[in-house]
Amino acid sequence: MNSESSGFPRVAVVIPAAGRGERFGSPKQFQTHLGWSLLRWALEPFLGLGDSLVAMAVALPPGETARGLEDLAGHPRLHTCTGGASRQESVRLGLKLIAGELRPDDVVLVHDAARPLLSGVDLRRIAELIARTGAGALLAVPVRDTLKRAGGNGLVEETVPRSGLYQAQTPQGAPAHLLIEAHDRALRAGLHATDDAAVLEAAGIPVHIVEGDPLNFKITGETDWKLFTALARRLSGRDNPSTPSPRLDSGGSPPNSPSPPGRGGPG
Ligand code: CTP
Ligand code: MG
Repeated sequence: MNSESSGFPRVAVVIPAAGRGERFGSPKQFQTHLGWSLLRWALEPFLGLGDSLVAMAVALPPGETARGLEDLAGHPRLHTCTGGASRQESVRLGLKLIAGELRPDDVVLVHDAARPLLSGVDLRRIAELIARTGAGALLAVPVRDTLKRAGGNGLVEETVPRSGLYQAQTPQGAPAHLLIEAHDRALRAGLHATDDAAVLEAAGIPVHIVEGDPLNFKITGETDWKLFTALARRLSGRDNPSTPSPRLDSGGSPPNSPSPPGRGGPG
């Protein structure tokens, strides 16, 4: 379960990046900011794991083989495939692509291509928890606003107690053998889930909540993109155009990469 030298677990990542970005207006995973595609931003914290990262699978739209990953061309751990009609199918195909590289207890994490600001610290926390418990886990943030259920007539039907409610984020994952088995079961059962935690839950696998960071939000529409670009500029010190852009501690970007900031790498 541990990578040989560090005591940190072996980790693989599956990135579903085959969506159409209908709410965004274009396939958002290829939209660029500070020289990197959104997909490339999403991958960066995983590259920060160094030798502990044993495989990366990226599921792309039909006809794409390497788009958004230009600076990683030839990376020995990177594998790409064509995704499916649903997110769940894209994840399943990505898992299949790297299954041969995995040991049963490797930590496999699924992370949306549309979440560019995952911190290296949160990535390490969830990987370590999965390795320690041998169960599933996801990053999630507690719901902070008061929730209302609307009736059909536009009036409030009830106030829903928010206690115990979380918003699911990614990464989500489990040891390889459990995640692969859960996705195979979901396929056989005709289950359509919107995230991998639900796939694990349906297979009866315990899923731990790891409290995450609201900055790890998903880019769905244009407002999210504005928020991301403003934050990324601040994190990189590019608010002031005359300031050179320092790298934050994203921890180990590959050679020849442009230099957007990360949000905190290993340790
Ligand atoms: N995704 C995928 N395959 C699909 C659908 C979605 O790999 N058939 C991926 C997206 O590329 C994204 C992640 O799943 O990285 C989360 O999905 P979402 O935010 O819904 O992205 P889109 O499906 O592209 O957006 P929309 O639903 O607005 O079309
Ligand atoms: Mg979608």
